[in-house]
Formats: sequence, structure tokens, C-alpha cells
Amino acid sequence: MDQNLLRKIRENVDIVEFIGKYIPLQKKGKNYFGLCPFHNDNNPSLSVSREKQIYKCFVCGEAGNVFNFLMKFENISFKEAVQTIANEVGIIVPTEFKKEENKNKIYYDIYDIANKFFQNNLLAKEGAKAREYLMNRKLDMETIKEFQIGLALNERAALTKMLVKKGYDLKLLNDLGLVSDDHDIYIKRIIFPLTNPKGEINGFSGRIYNGEHTNKYLNSKETFIFKKGENLFNYNRAREEVRKNKFVILMEGFMAVIRAYTIGVKNCVATMGTALTVEQITLLKRLATTVYLCLDGDDAGINATLNNGKLLLEHNLEVKVIPLKEGLDPDDYILKYGSESFYSLISSAISYNDFKIRLLKKGVNFKSSTELSNYVNLVLKEISNVSDEIKREIMLKNLANETNVWYNTLEKKLNELLANQKDEDFKVFVTSKNVSKRKNKYEKTMQELIYYMLIKKEVITIVENSKVYFPIDSYRILAREISYFYEQYGYINIADFKTYIEDNKDLNDVFLEIISLDLDSNVSDITILEYLKVIKDYNVSLEIKRLEKLIMNEIDPLEQAKISNQIMKLKMGSENND
Ligand code: UTP
Ligand code: MN
Repeated sequence: MDQNLLRKIRENVDIVEFIGKYIPLQKKGKNYFGLCPFHNDNNPSLSVSREKQIYKCFVCGEAGNVFNFLMKFENISFKEAVQTIANEVGIIVPTEFKKEENKNKIYYDIYDIANKFFQNNLLAKEGAKAREYLMNRKLDMETIKEFQIGLALNERAALTKMLVKKGYDLKLLNDLGLVSDDHDIYIKRIIFPLTNPKGEINGFSGRIYNGEHTNKYLNSKETFIFKKGENLFNYNRAREEVRKNKFVILMEGFMAVIRAYTIGVKNCVATMGTALTVEQITLLKRLATTVYLCLDGDDAGINATLNNGKLLLEHNLEVKVIPLKEGLDPDDYILKYGSESFYSLISSAISYNDFKIRLLKKGVNFKSSTELSNYVNLVLKEISNVSDEIKREIMLKNLANETNVWYNTLEKKLNELLANQKDEDFKVFVTSKNVSKRKNKYEKTMQELIYYMLIKKEVITIVENSKVYFPIDSYRILAREISYFYEQYGYINIADFKTYIEDNKDLNDVFLEIISLDLDSNVSDITILEYLKVIKDYNVSLEIKRLEKLIMNEIDPLEQAKISNQIMKLKMGSENND
């Protein structure tokens, strides 16, 4: 890989701005901080350095330059990350570099072909009934095109035959969930293509449209490219829109998402009627920090709102709720009450806690003191989960007003609850804090010296001239690689060196540990010389140890004397050190 080209691409993006597009960052001192998207972060532990053009999470240890961030965030290869950023900054990379064949490409190709096939069916004469159904559901041609909606005709093996004729293996088609034995899986259904987070079609959902008495929707089975719990409907399409809006709307069914899209609400995604998974939450986190839940208004939907909301909060997302009345789902609601009404529902979305409190209030008899105090206690518990002090105060005032319980009493109770919680938070903090292995003085010195080699080219020269020997393999190799990089390219910096050793897992680990040291960037030559001396002394002490062992195993007294003489000399050479 052309290091100079990589450098050129990397230098065209500022890491603070780049990561800032994905997660909100706040300046603290000379670095920027945000919630780490790579673990379940509670406090902003991801630090981004503009000076060094690297990021580092001091809890989970994830670190690197812009390429690494994108790789990890989008779950793509190094080459894909470079390609993406190169495109963004308008740098053309040589074609041979692009030829990173997606190993699953053939499967997506097959799905693409099947999808085109279904789309054609919908437009054909035989598709009239299905088109009529879609028109009745108020889905116009534009929407049908946008979501690539298609149709499986009433034929036993139309798709199978077509794909086999194209040379695809029947067994593969079975494995891909398109074919069962020798016939089609989707027959007489309207076909909605499903996509992975990158937007590649990896499955279908087929809906009955002619009143058949069978499952309303038939979904692709789980295959190596389709995992229901790892996809969100419309994820890829919603991306840009979510970034603009700063929040994502989560729905239950894809018809709801499609409907919202038709009225210009394009920042919606949907689970496929299943419980939210951690993988899906990770996907959501990549889009926004706030999730609006707009699930069906029936009991199942309300329960799902409670469960999903709780889960999302646990993953440090902000949660708002758009409750739908009369048990309607978003699709029905929009059709019944119109787009304006839906827009105003979005803008008056309530917090998860308010939603819960509303539910708690339902059916409570305020005249019964038991019911009332029960209600007050439940609400207080909810309020104690709110991290913002001002919000808590407002909620508390509301509670005092509505229940006529004295504010001070409520406050006292709330403080008790909060005090208990602090203890728990602290416990979690203590146990989860990563306890890194303690390094001895010599190892620390080597790390610091290497750190300075990475940020000051002069240090490389001093180290080379000193001929110092790093007695630990990984440090020695790393130092050698740094020298080599400098010799080759005539400069050194952390961000580019990271790319240079990308493929070397072992070096990478040591490297990440070293760059997280975050030492003062000003270092005098004298300090460097002191480091070198410490390392030299370490070598001596190791050599002494080795000789002492040798003596123990030596039986010849003459040899023993020789060795002990050597030891003496070594000790004298480094007298005033340990
Ligand atoms: P719904 O029953 O709410 O469907 O299921 P819907 O979105 O309102 O669809 P229409 O309006 O009846 O056409 C919500 C989601 O649950 C999954 C689908 O993914 C659907 O989007 N589901 C539902 C199935 O997988 N199979 C079914 O038989 C029903
Ligand atoms: Mn519906």
C-alpha cells in the first residue's frame, strides 16, 4: 500500500470534525470527548486529539486514526475505509486498490437479480391485482420504485427456473432462502426487499394481498447474510436524514416506515416486529444519540415501548416517545389523521420518563390514600432515574402539584433514592474500571522513549545513534519499525504510523498502549538521554542476573571466578543505579 497516498488522504480530513459527524464531541482541555460508540459507555470516555489526529477510548481501549474509526464504526475493511474517505475528500485511488472483492458479493448479486425479477412482475400485466392493492393502500408508483417493491406471481418455480438458468446452484439458492427444494419460496406475495446496514439486499418480506388465509408476511429465513436481529428496515436510506434531524424514529413495521416516508418523514427505521437487539441498538447509536419510539398504539406496542425504551436508556441513548392513540400504528394514524397531525405528534414527543409516569397514572384513584402514595412512590422512582437535575426539579414540582403532597417531603424522599443509587453507580464504576497491568520502571521508560520517537523525529536519531538495545522484543521491534518508517518517508507521526503497522496485531497492541500515555509533547534531549541510560542500566542488570544464574550452575571454580569478575565489572559500571 502506498504510504504517501494514505497520508495524503488522511491529511485531508480532520479527525475531530470527522468523528464529530458520528458522535457529539465536546472540548475539554486540548482534547475532545464523546461517548465511546464501541462499548456501552456511561461517561464520555472517547478522547480525540486534533494534535495527534488519533482517538482513544480509555475504557475499552479502542484507538486509532480516521481509517480505524470508520472501519470499526461501519464494520468495513481497511481498504473500504480508505476508499470511502478518499471519495469524500476527492482523492482518486488506483483501481487495483479498489479490487477488494466482497466475499459475499455473489449472494447479493443473486438477491439483486431476484429483486429485479420481482419488480418486473409488479409492472407486468399479471401484476394488476397487486398494483391495485398497493394503490388502495395509498402507495404511489414513486414510493414503489423508491422501496423497490415487487411481486411474486402465482407460479410454482418462476424465480428458481430463472436463477438456475443463469447458472446458480440450486443448493446455494436453498441456502439463501429463496428456494425450497426445487420451487420458489415466495409465491403470490408482494415483495419488500430488506437490506443490510450498507443497503445491500439480503432478504425479502412477502405480503399476501388477495385475502389468502396464511401468514400475513413471510420473511427470509436466517442465512449467512440475513440476520433479522442485525438489520433495521430502511437503515441505509434513513442515514443522511437522521444526521440532519439529529434523531431517529424507531417503528415496529416496515409499512409504517414507508408511510412516514411518503409524507416526508424520512428518518425512520423499523425492527421487523421483533424485540430490539443489542446489535440493532449499536446500529442506532451510529446514527444518533436520541431515539424516538413510535410503536403501535396497542397494548403490545405500549409494552414494547417500555421494554425498548428501557434498553435504549441502558445503552445511554436519549429516548422520546410518540404515543399513538386508539391503538393505531403509524401507518393507520397518518392515513386517518393526516401528515400535519403526525408532524405535530413528533414535535410534541415526550420523554420516556413522562411516558412511564403517564402510564402509572392511568386508573389511579387519587382519593384513595394507598393508591395515591403508591403512585407517588412509583413516580419518585422514575424521577430518580432522570440524570438532569433541572428536569428532576420540574418533574417533582409537577408531582407536588398534581398530588398535593408537600414539595419538601417529595424532595426528601427523592434525595434518599438518589443517595442509594450513587452507591450502586460507584460499585459498577469500581468493578468495571479496567485495571491495566502495572509496568515496572524500565518498561515505562521504554514506552515513554518510544512515545517520543513517534512525535519527534529528532528522538529517532538520538535513539539510533545511542545503539540502545530494547530488551523486550515488542518494544525493540516497534522502535525498529519507527526508525524504518522515518528512514523511508522522511517524517513521523502517530496517525500515519498507525496505518503503517495496521496488519501487525501484536505491535498494534503495544503501540496503542504507548500512544495512550499522552505525555507532554515538549521533551528535552537531556530527558531522552536519561531514558537511554535507564534502559542501558536495565540491560546491565539483566545481564548480571543472567550471569548470577550461570554461576549457580557452574561447578568449575575457575569458571566461577571468571564470571564473578564479569559481574563485578558490570556492577561497577553502573554503580549508582539499582
Ligand atoms: P404488523 O402486523 O403491525 O404489520 O407487524 P404492519 O406493519 O401493520 O403491516 P400491514 O399494515 O398489515 O401490511 C409489524 C411487523 O411484524 C412483522 C413484519 O415485519 C411487520 O412489518 N410481521 C408481521 C411478520 O414478520 N409476520 C407477520 O405475519 C406479521
Ligand atoms: Mn398496518
